[in-house]
Formats: sequence, structure tokens, C-alpha cells
Amino acid sequence: MKRRDVLSGLAMAAAVPTIAKVASAQEAEQQEPRKVAPVEGCVALVTGSNRGVGLGFVEVLLERGAKRVYATARNPDNLPDVVALDPSRVVPLQLDVNNDEHRRAAAAQATDVTWIINNAAYPGSRIPEERRIRSASTLDDSKLVMETNCWSPAELARLFMPIILSNGGGAIANVLSAASWFCLPEYSSYSLSKAAAMMMTNGLRAELDRDPILVASVFTGGVDTRASPAGTKGGVSPNEHAHQVLDAMARGDTDVYAAGSKGMRDMISADPEAFERGRIKRFYESPLTIRNHL
Ligand SMILES: NC(=O)c1ccc[n+]([C@@H]2O[C@H](COP(=O)([O-])OP(=O)(O)OC[C@H]3O[C@@H](n4cnc5c(N)ncnc54)[C@H](OP(=O)(O)O)[C@@H]3O)[C@@H](O)[C@H]2O)c1
Repeated sequence: MKRRDVLSGLAMAAAVPTIAKVASAQEAEQQEPRKVAPVEGCVALVTGSNRGVGLGFVEVLLERGAKRVYATARNPDNLPDVVALDPSRVVPLQLDVNNDEHRRAAAAQATDVTWIINNAAYPGSRIPEERRIRSASTLDDSKLVMETNCWSPAELARLFMPIILSNGGGAIANVLSAASWFCLPEYSSYSLSKAAAMMMTNGLRAELDRDPILVASVFTGGVDTRASPAGTKGGVSPNEHAHQVLDAMARGDTDVYAAGSKGMRDMISADPEAFERGRIKRFYESPLTIRNHL
């Protein structure tokens, strides 16, 4: 058994904290100790947990032994079914991520949090032209996309970092997208928000490097939800996606590839211009729409 595994096991047996800074002897010579974030015993807050990817996270956090899960949604009427998964461990909270009062009330109530999963996102207007830079009547909708997908997760991270540290450490997982790496012209404002959120996450990771918080960039590929592109198939289930992400965080991965995004990453790396030309061709010839827009 590697030293890392032994230390990880000891940390879990002691039940403190939910994150352990460990390293093999060889790694220790070469780099800072690697942070790992196993779910067992964590107290997690998940945004947008009433459906889709967020609901998958709640299910799998419970399955893997989270102590408590704050299931949050902008409309609390959507939460009773989530609470019913395990009423003793699921605490419902109203949280429109763009509402500063909601954010502060959540931080005031959920003082035992050790993990936050910034999952909620807005893909942009139902009107395709409004999601673009050239054709939008104003950039108001693009700014709402940026607010929801980048600035609000940053605000939540700012509020919860001191809480997580006061509880001994943990994790921040920001759900990004393969569309952080390239522009989907059908959803330009979404792509630019996810690229900005990727850099925001990189910044957080650097700023928290010497603290016991693992900051994970979750590059999600295709998950079968209301936000999946119409006509596509083969996306993984939200539950399977959550298993992939939580496996990666337990290993200490900071770039988390889930639901097929690694293959896309490899294609982009192999020939970024060809990849971009392919996206532009599709935009003109058979543009993507999402299955059931918000
Ligand atoms: N599905 C995919 O293939 C895919 C691919 C790449 C990345 N992702 C990412 O995965 C995450 C979840 O996506 P999904 O597929 O589960 O989408 P979804 O089914 O459309 O769910 C979106 C969730 O975000 C919530 N939400 C939107 N605006 C909010 C706000 N202002 N405050 C609080 N909650 C808000 C929605 O709440 P309401 O129910 O109230 O609308 C809903 O719970 C997103 O970050 C998305 O970018 C998904």
C-alpha cells in the first residue's frame, strides 16, 4: 500500500478533516503535497440541486456517506422530493445564486459546510439571437449568463471559504463545461461565461494552494438533462456523472474530466483550428438547440 493510501485511510478513520494533504515519498520531493477530497463525512452544499446534474450530486453524496447535504434551489417548492431522499441528512435551502440576500442567509445557516458544489447555471435566452454577440439586441442576457455562471459561484466561494476553513478544510467544485475550451456559437454567451468561470476557478485554486481546500474544475461533457442538446444521445446519467466527479476528487484531481469531455479535450489539443472550424460549420448547417430551454 502506498504511503498516500495509508495516510488517506488514517484521515478517514479519524473522521477529520474531510480532506487530507498527503503525498507519496517521491511526489513529496517533487511537489507540494496533493490534496484529496473523499466524500465520507463531508457536509456539502449543492446549488441547483432540484434537478439534472445537481440532483445527481445530491444522490451520490448521500450514497457515499456525506454527513449532511444542503440541497439548494431558487424555488423551494422544487425541493420536497430531494429532501425525501433522506430527510435526516438533506436540508433544503432557498438559494437563487444571483440573490445576495439568499447567499448570505445560506452562509449564515449552513455554518458546518465543508464542500460547495457550484452547479447551477443559466444557458442563456430562449431566443437564439440574444445568446450571440452580433445579433443580441443588448448584452443584458449575456451579462445575466456571466453573472449566474461565473460571478455568483465566485461570490459563493468567497462566502464559504472561511466557513470551510473553520471546519477544518474540504472542497470547492465548480461545474464548468467542455464549452469552457471552445466557443459554441449557438451559445456564445454560455461559452464565454464558462471560459471565465474556468479562469476564476484557476485563480481560486492558486489562492487556496496553501490551505486545505481542494478546488476542482469540473469539465462536464454530455449529461442527459433538460439542458442536453436536442437530438444528441449517449450522454451519461446525472448519477453516473456525479460518481465520475467524486471519484476524481477522491483521487485529488483538480482538472476533472467527466461525461466524455476528455475525448473532446484530446481532439482540441490535436488540432484546435480544425475543431473550431467543425463547430462553425455546424452552426451554419445544423445548429444545436437545447432540448428544453429554461
Ligand atoms: N447537461 C450537460 O450535458 C452539461 C454539459 C456541460 C456542463 N453542464 C453543466 O452542468 C450544470 C448543471 O446543468 P444541467 O444539465 O443539470 O442543467 P439543467 O437541468 O438545466 O439544471 C440547471 C439547474 O440550475 C438551476 N439554476 C439556474 N439558474 C439559477 C439561479 N439563478 N439560482 C439557482 N439555481 C439556478 C436550475 O434551477 P430551476 O429548476 O429553478 O430552473 C436547475 O436546477 C451546469 O453548470 C451546466 O453548465 C451540463
